[in-house]
This record gives sequence, structure tokens and C-alpha cells, in this order.
Amino acid sequence: MSLGKALVLTISDSASMGKRDDLSGPEAKRTLEEAGFDVAAIEILPDERAGIESRLRRASDEGFRLVVTSGGTGLSPRDVTPEATQAVIDRNVPGIADLMRLESLKITPKAALSRAISGIRQSTLIINLPGSVKGVRECLAAVRPILAHAVETLQQSSLGCGE
Ligand code: MTE
Repeated sequence: MSLGKALVLTISDSASMGKRDDLSGPEAKRTLEEAGFDVAAIEILPDERAGIESRLRRASDEGFRLVVTSGGTGLSPRDVTPEATQAVIDRNVPGIADLMRLESLKITPKAALSRAISGIRQSTLIINLPGSVKGVRECLAAVRPILAHAVETLQQSSLGCGE
């Protein structure tokens, strides 16, 4: 059974200008499909806060259950994905970003350089991932075991963890 509609947003100036191929978006799409999501599209956006915010708002209005962004979470002045995400979410879900960082730090100390956040807008879960294929793979591996339960509880008025 499908876990619902998901959208992958690759956020990168160079990929949006066609200066490099987007490899991270397809990596995220593959993993989310394996996890049971129906990935409607991979879209590529430049590192522009207004454009990211408006796409995230629209995605939630369009009923996506999950939006995964890749890129723009680091320390460079152009990295604005966490700020754009923070501006549109109604509720933070810090544990998802914590889990990704916890598992990633076992692999590389550079995981400390991702400012990725996660949260909910309406009934859409939004998760920031780093921009590299390796970062996407490692972070999604960390959260994959809790994704189904996360999106299922989001759709219900009250559903405990059942544990
Ligand atoms: N997380 C994991 N799991 N694996 C990685 O290789 N790379 C880090 C970090 N998070 C990495 C990771 C690096 S090198 C950077 S600079 C930050 O993510 C931010 O990446 P971004 O600016 O492409 O989003």
C-alpha cells in the first residue's frame, strides 16, 4: 500500500542552471519509492529563499504527505533551505533532524555542518537533507524506519505510537 504522494526538491544554483546533473534528487526518489511513497516529481530550484518558501507552501496545499529537500543546508551565504523551511512550517519535528545528525555523525564529523531541520505544514511533513548523494543516502537510511509511522500519524486526529 502506498504511503502517499511525495515530492523531492533539489535545491542548488548550479543544478538549476544546468551546470551540473542532479544526482541527489534521483537518489532520494529511489529511496522514498523503496520505502513505499509515490514520488510525483523531482524539481530543481535555485538557492533563493522566496522561491523555496512558495514551492513548499504550494506542495502542502497540493496535499503532498512528504516533501524532501536536498541541498542548501550548509554554512555558505547562499544556503537558505533551513530558513525557508522554518518560515513555512506550523510545527517543528526536531527529532527527525536529530536522528539524521546522530546517525550521520557516526559516519562523518562533517554532518555537523548541515543545518537541516524538519517540520510540518498542514499535513505535510517536510525534511531537509544535505545536497550530496552520500548525505541523502545516509540521512534517509537513518529516518526510513520512522517515515511510515510519521506520515500515518499526521493524517489522524489521534493515534498513539502503539508501543
Ligand atoms: N551528512 C551525511 N550523512 N553525510 C555527509 O556526507 N555532508 C556534510 C553535511 N551532512 C554529509 C552530511 C557536509 S560536507 C555539508 S557541507 C553539509 O551536510 C551541508 O550540505 P549542503 O549545503 O549540501 O546541504
